[in-house]
Amino acid sequence: MIPLPLARIAEITSGALTGMADPRAVVRGPVVIDSRAVEPGSLFVAIKGARVDGHDYAAQAIRAGAVAVLATRPVEGPAVIVPDAAAALAELATAQAAALSGVTVIGVTGSAGKTSTKDLLARLTARVGPTIAPVGSFNNELGHPLTVLRADLDTRFMVLELAARNIGHIKDLTRIAPPQIGVVLNVGTAHLGVFGGKEAIAKAKGELVEALPRTGVAVLNADDPLVRGMASRTDARVTFFGRGESASIRAEGVTVDARGRASFTLRTPSGSAPVSLQLYGEHAVDNALAAAAAGYELGLPVATIAAELSQATPVSRWRMEVTDRADGVTVVNDAYNANPDSMRAAFAAFETLGRGRRRFAVIAALRELGEEGPALNAELGRLAGGSGLAGLIVAGPDAGPVLEGARAAAAQAQAAAQAALDAQAAAHAAAGVPQAPVPHQDPPQGWHGPSPDQGWHGPAQDQGWHGPSQDQGWHEPSPEQGAPQGWQAPPAGGPVPGHPPVGGPPMGAAPFGGAPAGPHRGGPVAGAPPGGGAAYPAQAMRIVHVPDAEAAAAELAGWLRPGDAVLVKGPRAMGLERTAELVLGGAAQ
Ligand SMILES: Nc1ncnc2c1ncn2[C@@H]1O[C@H](COP(=O)(O)OP(=O)(O)OP(=O)(O)O)[C@@H](O)[C@H]1O
Ligand SMILES: [Mg+2]
Repeated sequence: MIPLPLARIAEITSGALTGMADPRAVVRGPVVIDSRAVEPGSLFVAIKGARVDGHDYAAQAIRAGAVAVLATRPVEGPAVIVPDAAAALAELATAQAAALSGVTVIGVTGSAGKTSTKDLLARLTARVGPTIAPVGSFNNELGHPLTVLRADLDTRFMVLELAARNIGHIKDLTRIAPPQIGVVLNVGTAHLGVFGGKEAIAKAKGELVEALPRTGVAVLNADDPLVRGMASRTDARVTFFGRGESASIRAEGVTVDARGRASFTLRTPSGSAPVSLQLYGEHAVDNALAAAAAGYELGLPVATIAAELSQATPVSRWRMEVTDRADGVTVVNDAYNANPDSMRAAFAAFETLGRGRRRFAVIAALRELGEEGPALNAELGRLAGGSGLAGLIVAGPDAGPVLEGARAAAAQAQAAAQAALDAQAAAHAAAGVPQAPVPHQDPPQGWHGPSPDQGWHGPAQDQGWHGPSQDQGWHEPSPEQGAPQGWQAPPAGGPVPGHPPVGGPPMGAAPFGGAPAGPHRGGPVAGAPPGGGAAYPAQAMRIVHVPDAEAAAAELAGWLRPGDAVLVKGPRAMGLERTAELVLGGAAQ
């Protein structure tokens, strides 16, 4: 940050110095809301959250070297007292951004892919000059100004992620560091409940392009009608990215390799270049195009953009992290967060990556979807139940609609597969093909019969986490979102006390048959005996409900065999990355 004496901080925030604060003492940064992140020269901002009050960690912050505390009441040690610490933080960031005239500010918003795109774009701008981009998401009223305050006089670019939890939020964020380039990715169903409809979400996200100056550039996704429609809401020049001809920055000839990684030709008005992404999932193409379009507007050569995109690996954790265990089990950890759109994207990528293998998924009910929540969760269940998995684990509370949807779709897929088997057997019989003997024991791949409900049925468990188990000093309520109100963190690690053990009948060594069920998979019909003949029962998808991430890992441990593939994806509050970590051996990845 640009160094600021306490007197200037008090002036900017209309605050009062207390605790013998020296007006000449200089804050050199970083400005933090997590007492554990304090360094000598820091300003510690005391935020009062739902469970933890930053003021309780003021003395600790001062001991760790903070020059002062930005607080709403006097604390032990030097402080700047303001009526609203979050508002004061925004004022500080606004003043700093105004002093950074040589910085190009690029804002990225959308329902899904902001962080992934921000990471790609920051990689591109770093080729041109020093770049500040948020750690992880840091995209709200706390994370955003904290990121802006990291910039100094050397900074050339700020690539900022802007999130809206309601109308007006993005507008407020754009006032802190007014963007010259605004990138809008998509309008999906994330936080549908808060907004009450997609149009309202589009209204909120479009505030980014409304904030652009005439000299700026709006970078819009041509493939998303609600984003395309934002062109009329900006004074800035508009450039489109997408898959179709109408987009000036586009991907042509998209192919996806066996691991789900896309390659394409990046076309721009001044030439083309091949891109082979190392990121997983076809949705990465859209994020790459968005970053490419912004990079192009900054004057980067197409070849450089293509090369950087091709070299990029995931920067922020738990977004399509693909790891192979020594025994060949592949774990797809996409547990950072989930909404209906990103669930679909993840299942699509997983289908490619897991083709020809036994596939399992661990998911959890989506949240913040308002009235449509149960219906959208039932749809998620149907997606999972119909996707040819060998087994599905649904973790955590409110799993009812997901389980019902999954069971219905799985039963339907199984019935269709059985009908196909029966028809095949009948055709063979009619053609005089000798019938293989009907096995009086399990078929080769371990049929265990349909199990309509083997879920966890323990007593109503304590759902949700209720505060940090250990005192590690004040840390911001959400490391990614920074939202102090009402956010429920997952456990920091280890099982949550009081959770019942995993229920359900014990699993055999080989609970499921081989290939995924479902006639639509295109491969051999599951359960078909080798050489044709008798129709074995088509495989049923095992569907289990468990209380939490740890229980999901314990359940999976009994299911997995070498060569299997697992997708782990749920809403942030479920902390399902823990499941992936445990499956990978318990060590932090
Ligand atoms: N373009 C996309 N379309 C659909 N899903 C996507 C897209 N890009 C990323 N995802 C998936 O969405 C999830 C979140 O990705 P990412 O963190 O990049 O998004 P975000 O917009 O920053 O999310 P948040 O609002 O939680 O900060 C991940 O599971 C990721 O795989
Ligand atoms: Mg994000």
